[in-house]
Amino acid sequence: MGGPVMLLIVMAQVLLLLLVGLTLAWVCQGQSLVPGVIIFGDSVVDVGNNNHRLTLVKADFPPYGRDFIHHTPTGRFCNGKLATDFTVENLGFTSYPPAYLSEQARGKNLLSGVNFGSGASGYLESTSILYNVISLDQQLRNYKDYRSKVERIAGRTNATALFTGSIYVVTTGTSDYVQNYYINPLLNRAYNPDQFADLLVQRFNTFIEVLYNMGARRIGVTSLPPLGCLPAAVTLFGGGSNDCVARLNDDAIVFNKKLNAAGRALKKSHPKLKLVILDIYKPLLDLIRHPENNGFFEARKACCGTGIIETSFLCNAGSPGTCANATGYVFWDSFHPTEAANQVLSDALFIQGIDLIS
Ligand SMILES: *[C@@H]1O[C@H](CO)[C@@H](O)[C@H](O)[C@H]1NC(C)=O
Ligand SMILES: *[C@@H]1O[C@H](CO)[C@@H](O)[C@H](O)[C@H]1NC(C)=O
Repeated sequence: MGGPVMLLIVMAQVLLLLLVGLTLAWVCQGQSLVPGVIIFGDSVVDVGNNNHRLTLVKADFPPYGRDFIHHTPTGRFCNGKLATDFTVENLGFTSYPPAYLSEQARGKNLLSGVNFGSGASGYLESTSILYNVISLDQQLRNYKDYRSKVERIAGRTNATALFTGSIYVVTTGTSDYVQNYYINPLLNRAYNPDQFADLLVQRFNTFIEVLYNMGARRIGVTSLPPLGCLPAAVTLFGGGSNDCVARLNDDAIVFNKKLNAAGRALKKSHPKLKLVILDIYKPLLDLIRHPENNGFFEARKACCGTGIIETSFLCNAGSPGTCANATGYVFWDSFHPTEAANQVLSDALFIQGIDLIS
């Protein structure tokens, strides 16, 4: 019993070492493993697009960013780096894809990818409308706009190489549940969780088809996290308990199963498509259940404020109780992991996504 499992673990470790070595070798030559990274999604990946929107869902003020480069808030919903920042570093880039709506998103800066992510957006148009943020459909329209800019700057041939070779990351869905379905009686009366998951997966399918038809060939899509363990979800939906809300986690599991099945079907109908569903559910749940295994000590309360409810504008420089050192916390605010947790998650996702760089 132990033999094959041990062998697998050892092989995985050897593979990881090889990859790290490979990455370092490339990085030393100043080269990246892929020409670019193009990012779509919600606050888990937003690096400042919402700064340019009239919305309450923002993170461009302290204490957000206090452990980031130059200790400045950027719009990232984190004290420091996002999981995708670590991924971009692991791929050998020396800068992060700029927020598409930012000043930095111009000229040469566009030639190694860009970030369209917008906090509180989801698979559903209605989720983004609630918060006046950039819907996934609008993110796709921005991507089309981006493509013509790159073609003008780098020429058609170079542009096509970038669009085809880049890794596309898609991280969304959490807001569809936590900031829409669970609080919107119209939605939760119209759909049971199974039907709601079907609705989202339909949108996922369309999104991937459109990307594929424009030339994307390496796409990584993250699954839903354990929704019921997000500190705000425990507070809002836990009925006074301090434990993860099982009903919400079950919904995430149902969605993730359907997402994986849809991913398999898409790969079958598009043999040239490298599509990986990156499981974030288990690595995050492991961190929450056994924080001490990775050097963490707090997984229920977030660092910012009281840690049980604050996010976005509620997490601000005046929030009483914000922790002095976020390193031992899994959550930075009541929805979003700390930089330290993001690093652990990014490592887990990188191993799962190896297929995308082969
Ligand atoms: C395309 O890329 C090549 C190699 O990097 C570069 O030499 C060339 O100038 C680029 N073409 C345009 C139109 O920018
Ligand atoms: C924060 O805590 C970690 C250990 O949890 C420690 O290694 C680090 O030095 C601390 N950082 C600061 C600024 O105190």
